[in-house]
Amino acid sequence: MSLVYLNGEYKLIEEASVNVLDRGFIFGDGVYEVIPIFNRKIFRFDDHIRRLENSLEAIYMNNPLEKKEWHNIFNQLINSSEHPNQSIYLQITRGVSKRDHDVSVADKPTVFAMSRPIEKNDFFSGIKAITHEDIRWQYCDIKAITLLPSILLRYKAKQQGAREAILIRKGYVTEGAASNVFVCANGKIVTPPKTNHVLAGITRDLVVEILLENNLPLSEESISENTLLAADEIWVTSSTWEIVPVLELDDKSVGTGESSGPGPLWQEINRYYQEFKDAYCN
Ligand SMILES: Cc1ncc(COP(=O)(O)O)c(C=O)c1O
Repeated sequence: MSLVYLNGEYKLIEEASVNVLDRGFIFGDGVYEVIPIFNRKIFRFDDHIRRLENSLEAIYMNNPLEKKEWHNIFNQLINSSEHPNQSIYLQITRGVSKRDHDVSVADKPTVFAMSRPIEKNDFFSGIKAITHEDIRWQYCDIKAITLLPSILLRYKAKQQGAREAILIRKGYVTEGAASNVFVCANGKIVTPPKTNHVLAGITRDLVVEILLENNLPLSEESISENTLLAADEIWVTSSTWEIVPVLELDDKSVGTGESSGPGPLWQEINRYYQEFKDAYCN
């Protein structure tokens, strides 16, 4: 029987409800995290809590719970589910207040967490993506619950038979609608640096770490739209998708188009990543 956590209590999801004046509902005034669980082990717990604290600080909130309290909540949720691989979604809003833009009228955050199974997916065989102007705001480094632009971008991708939209701001790649981007071009693997236009993906950082450890030619630098369009390989990363090869961009094959499957560098990084994960979670 899978439980959710809401403000100090564990309940069935049907029994969990929040006040309509919650600022998450009224303003989208809150932040979230998604933490993968593999083989019932919390993957990169410290990194996710650190990013949560960065997001909270950026919206002038404190972490309402201690690290060990989060750990305990996650384990309760994990244990209430029968699935070994799960993703924990947690959301903190500024809480219930009269409808007023002023943040000082809210004094008690709403804290919610749930776990869902990570579905087996076919992403490893490769996806299609589109390019799109980055229509989001200037604070993409905050993991904010206000995701309407990202939802519209994913909708546009889907309308064109694609799974992800790779975003371009002033001629340069920022990230995917819900993923980070790596490009292999001119013998290098490149990912955009972490700025306010990019979410600091936990998977991105781990991929960077693994590439460097294995002496693969990584560089964190801006990627022009032209470099993206001429790339030999493109990968998108996220906690639940892991490392996904993009095989078609804007209806054109990525790379030479000679091979129909993921490229050799993806094969290599994915093998290292899966080995790392297995060692961590077994
Ligand atoms: C905009 C955006 N960038 C990047 C990511 C990947 O982050 P992570 O690897 O921490 O899941 C996500 C994940 O949802 C995202 O929404």
